[in-house]
Amino acid sequence: MYNLECYCNRFSPAHRSIVLSSNSQPASFLAFPAGFLWGISTSGYQVEGGDQDSQWVAWERDGKIRSGDRSGLACDWWGNAEADFDIAKKIGLNALRLSVEWSRLEPRPGEWSLAALHRYREILQALLDRGMQPIVCLHHFTHPAWFEAGGGFLNQHAPAQFEQFVKRAVEGLSDLCRHWVTFNEPNVYTAFGYVLGEFPPGHRGRALAALQATQMMARAHARAYRRIHELQADAEVGWAQHYAVLEAARAHSRMDRLWANTLDRVFNQIFFRAIEDGNLGFPLNLFDGNLREAKDTCDFVGLNVYSRFNVAFRPLLPAQLFADVFVPEGVPQGDPCADKAYGEAYPGAIRSAVQRAASLGKPIYILENGVPDATDRIRPWVIVNATKQLHALISEGYDIRGYFHWTLTDNFEWSEGWHLRFGLVELDPATQHRKLRESAHLYGAIVNANGLTEELIRQFCPAETLRS
Ligand code: BGC
Repeated sequence: MYNLECYCNRFSPAHRSIVLSSNSQPASFLAFPAGFLWGISTSGYQVEGGDQDSQWVAWERDGKIRSGDRSGLACDWWGNAEADFDIAKKIGLNALRLSVEWSRLEPRPGEWSLAALHRYREILQALLDRGMQPIVCLHHFTHPAWFEAGGGFLNQHAPAQFEQFVKRAVEGLSDLCRHWVTFNEPNVYTAFGYVLGEFPPGHRGRALAALQATQMMARAHARAYRRIHELQADAEVGWAQHYAVLEAARAHSRMDRLWANTLDRVFNQIFFRAIEDGNLGFPLNLFDGNLREAKDTCDFVGLNVYSRFNVAFRPLLPAQLFADVFVPEGVPQGDPCADKAYGEAYPGAIRSAVQRAASLGKPIYILENGVPDATDRIRPWVIVNATKQLHALISEGYDIRGYFHWTLTDNFEWSEGWHLRFGLVELDPATQHRKLRESAHLYGAIVNANGLTEELIRQFCPAETLRS
């Protein structure tokens, strides 16, 4: 079923020249719309280094990173993000997504750091100077330790506290940025923090708490949405939805199908429903039906898309919501996590995610897509197939405005530490030495041409041509 040779086909170094090449394009060419955003995505904690005041500092200190790694200097963006921006510019990117750390701006309740705000202003200005449009995320899994100590998003004051931070951030940065992502992947944050125990606060099996935190985040999102629009008339505000394709492990099993569908509703659909309908959809709305304030609070939908999983119903696994979620053998994969598969590398997930998001009738950005791959074995295949998928979707009329690869430079991968490498650029965190992977050149070729050549498609999808 899968052509494994396909992604092993390394693209020829001749493509390196395309990064800096002229506008001349081969006759058969999948062109993207003018002004399409080609970017990369990052998050503050994963790249900045030297964080002192977020809840992840204690998480690391308490030995919760599987490899025992520490984020340390990370990619040293607090000291020198500009070096990576130079690389991004050389690749040819015209956009970059990053996040602002709440814990830097408000390290203690009500204490606001002008120095941190100043550094974020420098960072955004550095992007603009290099011709890259910033998209700023306001919560990417991390927040101040004091906020966590107060119960995080289970605290009824959380939406108001988050809104205060958003107000400060937007007041300080709105002349440099107009695209805001309120939350990155509320579904991953709550699943990993309250059900799987992989993120702080590290609970397992607390599905109800995950649901309550999701509701609070939807309220916080709604308040942030309105506040940003009050402060900045031309702001565009959305959120970043993680979307994983979940399929029944045994197609003939009614329970597997039911559970795949249930997990899809609980994991993929929950925030969509909050924004689209103002409630979480049956049966979750039985717990708290009223999220009317969240209805219609987005100007665009951000999608973070990586993987496909199989779902099998397991009556003896209540702590895992009765589901075994796994990657079947023989499918394309990047590098594994320390103790499990990361996920099937599945560019086709973009189609499912875009089709779901389209019902909101808003512009769509792919705000993350990538694969852990230290040796660049499969990443080129992922990039070509993802962009090919995007081109087809745009041709079918879907309003997709940009693609942001995760990520530019290898960064600190949460509980996997430095073990998983997602970068177009390889990083040695000890020396801060960087080396461009072949994928950086390949992505640059696509970005600079604003499209895909038939040659690239032939090389990475040999079974297909532009005419198939
Ligand atoms: C997260 C990133 C993470 C990436 C790769 C996304 O779900 O937003 O922070 O590094 O996946 O695992």
